Amino acid sequence: EGNDGVHISNLLKETGLVTLDSGFMNTASCESKITYIDGDAGILRYRGYPIEQLAEQSSFLEVAYLLIKGELPTATELSAFTERVERHTHLHDNFKALIGAFPQDAHPMAVLSSAVSALPGYYPESVDPFDENAVELATVLLLAKLPTIAAYAFRRSRGEEMIGPDQSLGYVPDFLRMSFANGGGYETDPELVKALNLLLILHADHEQNCSTSTVRIVGSAHANLYASVSAGIGALSGPLHGGANEAVLAMLNDIQSSDDDVDTFMTRVKNKEQGVRLMGFGHRVYKNYDPRAAIVKGVAHTVLEKLGKSDEQLEIAMRLEEIALSDEYFIQRKLYPNVDFYTGLIYKAMGFPTNMFTPLFAVGRAPGWIAQWREMMNDPTTKIGRPRQVYTGHAEREYVGVDAR
Ligand code: ACO
Repeated sequence: EGNDGVHISNLLKETGLVTLDSGFMNTASCESKITYIDGDAGILRYRGYPIEQLAEQSSFLEVAYLLIKGELPTATELSAFTERVERHTHLHDNFKALIGAFPQDAHPMAVLSSAVSALPGYYPESVDPFDENAVELATVLLLAKLPTIAAYAFRRSRGEEMIGPDQSLGYVPDFLRMSFANGGGYETDPELVKALNLLLILHADHEQNCSTSTVRIVGSAHANLYASVSAGIGALSGPLHGGANEAVLAMLNDIQSSDDDVDTFMTRVKNKEQGVRLMGFGHRVYKNYDPRAAIVKGVAHTVLEKLGKSDEQLEIAMRLEEIALSDEYFIQRKLYPNVDFYTGLIYKAMGFPTNMFTPLFAVGRAPGWIAQWREMMNDPTTKIGRPRQVYTGHAEREYVGVDAR
């Protein structure tokens, strides 16, 4: 009986009882075949494939296909999929004008979520959530347009003109070119392409995290894929979620520029001084080393070495990790580095400013949001997401006119 979730939820419905589970610590919102996490053992698999193998051997669009369609593509399927995505990377002129209307210092996450929610206005034929062809088109359009929009938002923030996509280059190299090319052209560095491809793969899905749950709950009202993903981008912007990589760099900057040494900072964290946290540490599900963080740490060293940057902030980050891994405060609470602890340092070394870190996360997470939304829409047992509450307000009371208050 205890293992029969359906039975228990029916029982609760019949008795009028509700469970109060703040932060959904113990509540599964759905069944899913996409991503498996064992937080105690530090295991992450997409569709059964270990993240380490995908990170080492796969490409971002191949992983996107795997997450969305459920199987690794054949060579023919992959080239057809890639070709279709790359064909749609250009932005409509009016759409460019829409992005161009944002103030230059607008946060790129605001631009990204607004631009995604505007897409159905330009592609009404891709909006119907129950039309298979429309969903397929929306899938391709989202994967295709997100890097172009993110790169454009980045260029605008530096007061530069947009550079259009070049489909011959490939997804990741072209994203780097659209972000960084100037009048003199841009040589993509294969080492950086490899690193960015890997980072995007590591971020591609992570089961029912805050933004993915948001995507699902918005979609459960039969909102279209764009509206659902745009809401997910909003959730991702929070510093406790996708904004954490930006917060890690801000923390490293503060430590570097203050008189505090690393040990003093850690004492402030452990004393919970004004809510100071070691950003990039801790995870709701991982109570062990986040397997993605282990991979990213290696990439941080490779990229910084390749770019010839001896980074004092990397030294500070490693020292913070070293202290935390042997400190009772962190051991007792099972706090380990999460994926975001080292990603910011890599993005920074690549030349991205901190406000681009979360947009990069969004480009990486798009396949996961799409796969989860599609799985939910195809599941006949899906119901509109509608949690209950435990009311703790006033009992009934009489209205008093404003003059008598
Ligand atoms: N630094 C210091 N203490 C921490 C940290 C941290 N980073 N994270 C958790 N703790 C402490 C809490 O103060 C709490 O202590 P207590 O038991 O004495 O009250 C205990 O550990 C449990 O923490 P919760 O906040 O209850 O754990 P929860 O699962 O709700 O939060 C979260 C997880 C939000 C990730 C948290 O660890 C955190 O804020 N980390 C820093 C932000 C961050 O890196 N976010 C990225 C998450 S991964 C991602 O989105 C890709």
